[in-house]
Amino acid sequence: MKAVTWQGKRDVRVDDVPDARITEPTDAVIRVTTTAICGSDLHLYEPLAPFMTPGDIMGHETMGVVEEVGAQVGGLTAGDRVVVPFQICCGECFMCGQGLHTQCETTQVRDYGMGAALYGYTKLYGQVPGGQAEYLRVRQAQFAPIKVPADGPDERYIYLSDVLPTAWQAVEYAGVPDGGSLVVLGLGPIGDMACRIALHRGHRVIGVDPVPERRARVAERGADVLDADAGNDLPGVIREMTDGRGPDSVIDAVGLEAHGSPVAGFAQKIAGMLPGSVAEPMMQKAGIDRLAALKQAIEIVRRGGTISISGVYGGMADPLPMLTLFDKQIQLRMGQANVRRWSDEIMKLLTDDDPLGVEGFHTHRRPLDQAPQAYEAFQAKTDGTVKVLLSP
Ligand SMILES: NC(=O)c1ccc[n+]([C@@H]2O[C@H](COP(=O)([O-])OP(=O)(O)OC[C@H]3O[C@@H](n4cnc5c(N)ncnc54)[C@H](O)[C@@H]3O)[C@@H](O)[C@H]2O)c1
Ligand SMILES: [Zn+2]
Ligand SMILES: [Zn+2]
Repeated sequence: MKAVTWQGKRDVRVDDVPDARITEPTDAVIRVTTTAICGSDLHLYEPLAPFMTPGDIMGHETMGVVEEVGAQVGGLTAGDRVVVPFQICCGECFMCGQGLHTQCETTQVRDYGMGAALYGYTKLYGQVPGGQAEYLRVRQAQFAPIKVPADGPDERYIYLSDVLPTAWQAVEYAGVPDGGSLVVLGLGPIGDMACRIALHRGHRVIGVDPVPERRARVAERGADVLDADAGNDLPGVIREMTDGRGPDSVIDAVGLEAHGSPVAGFAQKIAGMLPGSVAEPMMQKAGIDRLAALKQAIEIVRRGGTISISGVYGGMADPLPMLTLFDKQIQLRMGQANVRRWSDEIMKLLTDDDPLGVEGFHTHRRPLDQAPQAYEAFQAKTDGTVKVLLSP
């Protein structure tokens, strides 16, 4: 079968790889009909390269049609249409019982001291072959996949795999009070969707991103927008817009590749150039994140407010302004999204009248063969690329 494989820094290719097949009784195999490229894939494309191995199959946003199921997969039959959550979880352990599916104790990657295994996401998360391929071996298929109706286009459901639950959890964790205000830093697919969800709940939303067409998409839905690169005093401007206090909550939907942290950016580049054996401990132990967005969130949020982080960070020694965090009495919540915790609630909004605008959310749909060009354009933010769907 054909699959998008990682070959090196900024080098993905479409290769022939062995077919996905059932090896455990809890597996299923699906024929992939749509798979998407995520901002998290961009971390693998460049800064997290030391944790990748040439030949790894990319992708964790996947949907398709069930071809075959293992002996213990009761709830699915061939022909069912499913969306596959990006994390692999059993539905039965203590953590799954708490709605913390990203901490699933059945799939935790204990060798690296990490939470639940993820599709297509580095050694730290189990090196599980991903869904940017013609077929996907779905693990824990007795619980994890989300069955979706046979009607409606893939565009309506594909974001249940990651974008929707991640943005939903970001808004939940932001804890915006009724009639309150929310600043969203980063208007990629995650920040954009978080704005849509917060607007739908009636919150005042201010979105911040340096890229004009990303701001325009969010402004069109009714948010106020600000340019992250305008060179002005962003926290001051936002305070003026929010009764002189700052917003009740801030979502950081930027993550470790934030613009505006030159020193960390340099460290990430150096680590990307070293041989894997040297770079890997350096990436894991050293503070390699660019914390520009997170530091800005700390400055922007009102005293006693809440910061919700959905952007991925990976450094273990990142210096943070603890004095300010403590003095401002800020609440911090973060983590990978627990997809099945939120999917039933979200499903109610995936209707014909499409209140979140999911069906027009993607900016590009390309054949799987064009994945290399799509990665390049998504990273460089050229050609208006915000969300790319791939058709195997
Ligand atoms: N927690 C989860 O479960 C989860 C799931 C999916 C994605 N993510 C993470 O969420 C983040 C965003 O994902 P995405 O798909 O939207 O990616 P993306 O790369 O398209 O979006 C990031 C956006 O941040 C903007 N940006 C950069 N520096 C900024 C700054 N200093 N201030 C404001 N904006 C800035 C960029 O212009 C870009 O639009 C990534 O870190 C990704 O790994 C987390
Ligand atoms: Zn994703
Ligand atoms: Zn579990």
